[in-house]
Amino acid sequence: MRATTTASTLEQDRAAFIERYPAYAKTGAIDELRDTEFRRLDDQKLVYLDYTGGGLYPASVVERHATFLTTHVLGNPHSVNPASALAGRCVEACRAHVLRFFNASPDEYAVVFTANASHALKLVGEAYPFEPGDQLLLTYDNHNSVNGIREFDRAHGAETTYVPVIPPDLRVEGARLERLLSRATPGGHNLFAYPAQSNFSGVQHPLEWIATAQNHGWDVLLDAAAFVPTNCLDLSRVHPDYVALSFYKMFGHPTGVGALIAKRSALAKLHRPWFSGGTITVASVQGDRHFLAEGAAAFEDGTLDYTNIPAVDAGLSFLDEVGLDLIHERVSCLTGWLLETMLALHHPNGRPLIKIFGPVTTADRGATIAFSVHDQAGAVVDHDDVERRAAEAGISLRTGCFCNPGAGEVALGLSAGELDRCFTDSGDRMTKEDFGRCLEGGKSPGAVRVSLGLVSTFADVYAFVRFAAGLT
Ligand SMILES: Cc1ncc(COP(=O)(O)O)c(C=O)c1O
Repeated sequence: MRATTTASTLEQDRAAFIERYPAYAKTGAIDELRDTEFRRLDDQKLVYLDYTGGGLYPASVVERHATFLTTHVLGNPHSVNPASALAGRCVEACRAHVLRFFNASPDEYAVVFTANASHALKLVGEAYPFEPGDQLLLTYDNHNSVNGIREFDRAHGAETTYVPVIPPDLRVEGARLERLLSRATPGGHNLFAYPAQSNFSGVQHPLEWIATAQNHGWDVLLDAAAFVPTNCLDLSRVHPDYVALSFYKMFGHPTGVGALIAKRSALAKLHRPWFSGGTITVASVQGDRHFLAEGAAAFEDGTLDYTNIPAVDAGLSFLDEVGLDLIHERVSCLTGWLLETMLALHHPNGRPLIKIFGPVTTADRGATIAFSVHDQAGAVVDHDDVERRAAEAGISLRTGCFCNPGAGEVALGLSAGELDRCFTDSGDRMTKEDFGRCLEGGKSPGAVRVSLGLVSTFADVYAFVRFAAGLT
């Protein structure tokens, strides 16, 4: 393919792109959505490349939701009064919709509404029955909201093991994982947690690990937050014990609602560390007892976000109408072009402008690309500077470690010894600036990330590449 140069035009490059990725031409329905549902992006000349940070909401989902709220009377669920009963029915209908969307049998799975994916992960972590001798197995590229589960594990005297990701692709070595999985504590509680898609590198780890781990005696917690916005997760084909996700990552609105989709048997295994309004059938002050509700209700503390949950219903319907397969196809084409074109960018002296962290082809990877920008001498350009210049150009991208320190450490070449040295004598608090200062040889503690989603277009990735080429 032709490397993008300032001499080529959007139309010429789009034609070359479609020749190379003909499947993109079949996703034109999304261009129509871009003109209708997401018009605000082009009206405001904004290039949005942070879908892994947060999805964008279609105008009609917000309108449907607003119309629903302004034409119905909703009250706090759990009562027979009409306003309460309607809210209760909406919540239950949405629960059923979530199960249908992920092709999960209601006999096998239950949906617990949470505030977000992190909250879903915490519900599992704090209630998993870790005991001395039990194990938690994590991949290096877990999000911090999964890494945090190790604190519950340690507090109960259980062991945490990490399986590394290996550069340059930042994937896990299959044989190494198999070895660790084969060491489950017999008769114990073993929890294996990994991301279906890394929010750092875009790597999509095999979903086949789920059955393999379960066959070795592990419960599997699948962090699907970065995967489900552009990939089908079919819970009739794979059967993780727990799945965590946030709906705003899928369709932008509402924020503040996520889900823990859990096997009913796996929910029953959890021991909630407390009780609260909504989670019990009976609690007594003088009798000093409480009795937890069955299933999902035992995990939904206090009042659910019952005014926003109907928007989840609208968002899922929207995705169903567009088709996740279509979205997937489109972002795969765009990711392929973006990877090739970013790698083709060079300084006049021949040095590469960009180093990509993670796979450089679309095989088993999603539409999230982490990278560093380099100057003519090969030194890393400060990611804050790249973000600031992108913002000036109307481009939304993200920089830092994306709450994924393990993948970042490997990608950026930070060794355990170096990190130990930094953290020894650091006291109780450390700022990002302190951390940056203590790294050897001016290494950067962060990267730049662009990510594609629901209504990404060729014009978006083209604008980004033109911007990046101007960083020389
Ligand atoms: C893979 C992954 N897991 C978990 C989370 C946490 O999601 P939330 O902030 O919505 O709780 C994120 C957020 O970016 C993510 O990308």
